[in-house]
Amino acid sequence: PDRYAVIGNPIAHSKSPEIHARFAQQTGQNLVYERLLAPLDGFERTVRDFIAAGARGANVTVPFKLEAHALATELSVRAQAAGAVNTLRFSDDVIFGDNTDGVGLVTDIVRNAGVALHGKRVLLLGAGGAARGVMLPLLDEKPAELVIANRTVAKAAELAREFSPPHGRVHACGFGEPEGRFDVIINATSSAIAGDMPPLAPELFGPGTLAYEMMYGREATPFMRFAAQAGAATRDGLGMLVEQAAEAFLVWRGVRPDTAPVYAALRASL
Ligand code: ATR
Repeated sequence: PDRYAVIGNPIAHSKSPEIHARFAQQTGQNLVYERLLAPLDGFERTVRDFIAAGARGANVTVPFKLEAHALATELSVRAQAAGAVNTLRFSDDVIFGDNTDGVGLVTDIVRNAGVALHGKRVLLLGAGGAARGVMLPLLDEKPAELVIANRTVAKAAELAREFSPPHGRVHACGFGEPEGRFDVIINATSSAIAGDMPPLAPELFGPGTLAYEMMYGREATPFMRFAAQAGAATRDGLGMLVEQAAEAFLVWRGVRPDTAPVYAALRASL
């Protein structure tokens, strides 16, 4: 069988092996997918050893997505825009780097949640790696407006400046500044890890709003609870996780698995 892995540190908690095993079974693809713990100073060595062992590709997770971007000898347009790589494909002497996170998010919002982004007011919270990684696929949907709000406003301004032309209208601001109701509000900050949320006005949310939390878990995060209280529909990032995996599977194998049963199985096991 062809070999794949997810490489990170830590890696024990990763759900990717389970997801890809289900994809492989469903599509009849002959592959194995393992977990690889790379030392913090040994990402490149881990990848090169894996390639030497005959591997065909890998997913890359925290904290190595920037190193994977630097290691790739070819990059997709979306990986270039993200400045980070979560999917590697190995062939001959080429290390192809891609980023499927943003497409995963957009697919989960548009197809699975059934919420259009085209022509809508979209608020993106955060300006770190997670936010940068989804900018291009979000802008490809042609929202009427994309506002980036961050605790450190200068980082939001930098992201907005980088993506504004030729992609359309992008504004940067602090958490207290956005005004009016948004159609979609995406939390790309890591605030949930601290049991926290960005300080937002409840008026930004309403019955027509989808509040999307990129993190996932058994329980709603503070952002999701606040959004629900303000009347919004909420969704966590489990669907994004499954969709980015499906897109990576497509990059490697040329087939896109059916994500719905895999999402349901994962949700049930949280
Ligand atoms: P990631 O890869 O998860 O994006 P990151 O690049 O370290 O990680 O970025 C973390 C993001 O979460 C940043 O936007 C950060 O805000 P700053 O740029 O001001 O640091 C944001 N963040 C982290 N903890 C937060 C909190 N408790 N409240 C609001 N924003 C927070």
